[in-house]
Amino acid sequence: MIPNDEYIMVADFGGQYTQLIARKVRELGVFSEIAAYNEIEELLSEKPPKGIILSGGPSSIYSPDAPVVSKSIFNHNIPVLGICYGMQLISYLFGGKILKSDISEYGKKRVDFYDSALFEGIPNDSICWMSHQDRIVTPPEGYDIIADTPNCPVAAIQKGNIYGVQFHPEVTHTEYGKEILVNFLRKICRIKSEYNPQNFISVTIEEIRSKVGNSGVVLGLSGGVDSSVAAVLLHRAIGPRLYPIFVNTGLLRYKEEETVQSFFREKLGMNLIYVDASEIFLGRLASVTDPNQKRKIIGNTFIDVFQKEAENLDSIEYLAQGTLYPDVIESISVKGPSSVIKLHHNVGGLPEKMNLKIIEPLRMLFKDEVRKIGKELGLPDEIIERQPFPGPGMAVRILGDITKDKVITLQKADRIVIQEIKKAGLYNKIWQSFAILLPLKTVGVMGDAGTYQNVIAVRAVSSEDAMTADWVKLPAEVLESISSRITGEVTGINRVVYDITSKPPSTIEWE
Ligand code: XMP
Repeated sequence: MIPNDEYIMVADFGGQYTQLIARKVRELGVFSEIAAYNEIEELLSEKPPKGIILSGGPSSIYSPDAPVVSKSIFNHNIPVLGICYGMQLISYLFGGKILKSDISEYGKKRVDFYDSALFEGIPNDSICWMSHQDRIVTPPEGYDIIADTPNCPVAAIQKGNIYGVQFHPEVTHTEYGKEILVNFLRKICRIKSEYNPQNFISVTIEEIRSKVGNSGVVLGLSGGVDSSVAAVLLHRAIGPRLYPIFVNTGLLRYKEEETVQSFFREKLGMNLIYVDASEIFLGRLASVTDPNQKRKIIGNTFIDVFQKEAENLDSIEYLAQGTLYPDVIESISVKGPSSVIKLHHNVGGLPEKMNLKIIEPLRMLFKDEVRKIGKELGLPDEIIERQPFPGPGMAVRILGDITKDKVITLQKADRIVIQEIKKAGLYNKIWQSFAILLPLKTVGVMGDAGTYQNVIAVRAVSSEDAMTADWVKLPAEVLESISSRITGEVTGINRVVYDITSKPPSTIEWE
């Protein structure tokens, strides 16, 4: 088991690579957590790490809105590595001189390394990735220059266990980036333990136990990867004091309510609470066509239903959620000034309303990391490899108003898409694949008779994190069987089209 302090704090100054740094560190066997720059001081006393990495950021250190921390973060004798903006910040705080520049140094550059623990074993003149405008001209007093390039005479600095690099060791273009980070983690921060899914599980279970004590925890279980993994972790930690609540919104995938119940209640023995609220959801959604309105109604109805169920339970003090890191940054910029992308996720709302404390054991992780943890916890492939499904479910895939009949039509078509993609062995290679019901009728012919029926669109995208996505070039035979099965088996559909747009400019969902 890894001790609680054997981790690296990655301080977020809004850089595009912050998440990548955190993730790279974990790939190198050291646990890492991202902290907003203005949270560092508090966290340093609450849960001191073995090392701090100050991320890059888009700001110029002299600009009035530049994120700046107090010098006191350096008083703890914890090693620090400042990357790009992080290095300029160190320099600024200790009286170095930074040159504000409009000309950027961008791309692969050969770097000359001097003698330093950070660069031990790194060949001179190897390639590093640079992406900056401002640069340090004079390091602060007492700081040594430990690397340079022809255009950047101060490419790295050091004083004691405080280091700064102008280039980005976390990106793959930096030839020996991994080795530089390993030097920092193992030689400078002296972290001995090996982080892996197994010890993430044991540390997290201990943390949950000590946090929750004897109280009960409710969790909104959707049957997707994130909430399922969170549920199993909590179940391991507190057993029957976990109450997963599964709400049937009437907007689920084909027979999903049955599979979720049989797995979590019967197979895993959880205290699963099943609520069939489909009539309430569909009732409140009747005649609503605006996508944002649909989301709002679903979010509020979910809170109403969930709250009512949770109030029937005794001594509940916590609400657990399977929130992942991309949900956190896509929802609210709680982790430093990383730019907010969108606000539509269902992370907010519930906790404030219910006056419960929150547990989010996966909030620092990415989907593939959660999948590894799920595998280690023994969850079956059908859950671990499940493609993401949006909280508002079929509501954002039935364009226009929603009726029970339309939901049934879409569920049947969607099931065919999934079955055919699985049959072709493509399901696990695709981020999301699904059907959309269009509010559009087109003319067709069946047998001798003409028809005038609805259109199903099929969407399949590949993606790393849903922030960008590419449409998948599905083999023609797969598209053909999807089309002929949908038109043959789903009543009311006489045409199938395939979505050939990427994100951007489209989004993954149609609403
Ligand atoms: P878009 O459509 O914005 O979706 O490209 C990106 C990812 O988010 C999922 N998604 C949602 N998930 N509530 C959710 O929980 C929502 O309202 C919602 N809208 C989109 C979508 O399926 C994709 O994975």
